Amino acid sequence: RAKVAVLISGRGSNMAALLDATKAADYPAEIVGVLSNKAAAGGLDIAASHGIATASLAQSRFPTREMFEDTMTKVLESWEVDFICLAGFMRILGEDFVNRWRGRMINIHPSLLPAYRGLHTHERALADGVTEHGCTVHFVTPGLDEGPSILQARVPVLPGDTPESLSARVLEQEHRLYPEALRLLASGQVALA
Ligand code: GAR
Repeated sequence: RAKVAVLISGRGSNMAALLDATKAADYPAEIVGVLSNKAAAGGLDIAASHGIATASLAQSRFPTREMFEDTMTKVLESWEVDFICLAGFMRILGEDFVNRWRGRMINIHPSLLPAYRGLHTHERALADGVTEHGCTVHFVTPGLDEGPSILQARVPVLPGDTPESLSARVLEQEHRLYPEALRLLASGQVALA
């Protein structure tokens, strides 16, 4: 089974969904470690309670972003990671790190990319009055939220939706979509050209 690290910054509900999926005997990947850039990330406790290795690295403790990212790479290599899943990892990664993991790092983003790259996707979708919203799993490339998409899931925007109600509807789809996309990657059914 392919070895996967999940990078988080907070709650970790997508990480937990991946963890659940990898429990299936026929799933082509296992999670070998969870790395956070925030020591207080709730997802670290979830991972630890499943017996998964965890690490937290505060970027502010490193003189440069390169040193922070080189240390992340050392941790990931010590876990013998094949693939990285970004799951609510709220730091922009430098080009060297991204290129080092080219084709082996994917991200989940709460919009139908290329619409709404960046932050506050649900608020912006509601402000625009769109009727459809959703989430995307995509390969990570140097441009923020620009890499080729692997899978998308759509949800309707309903009358009276708030950012909270819309994000909850999207999140339910994220939890289904991310394990499906990782399955495609880990089994070699999808690759970055
Ligand atoms: C998820 O909705 C994810 O799509 C989003 O952060 C949330 C993390 O929740 N990611 C981004 O906005 C990336 N730019 P989680 O920690 O419960 O998985």
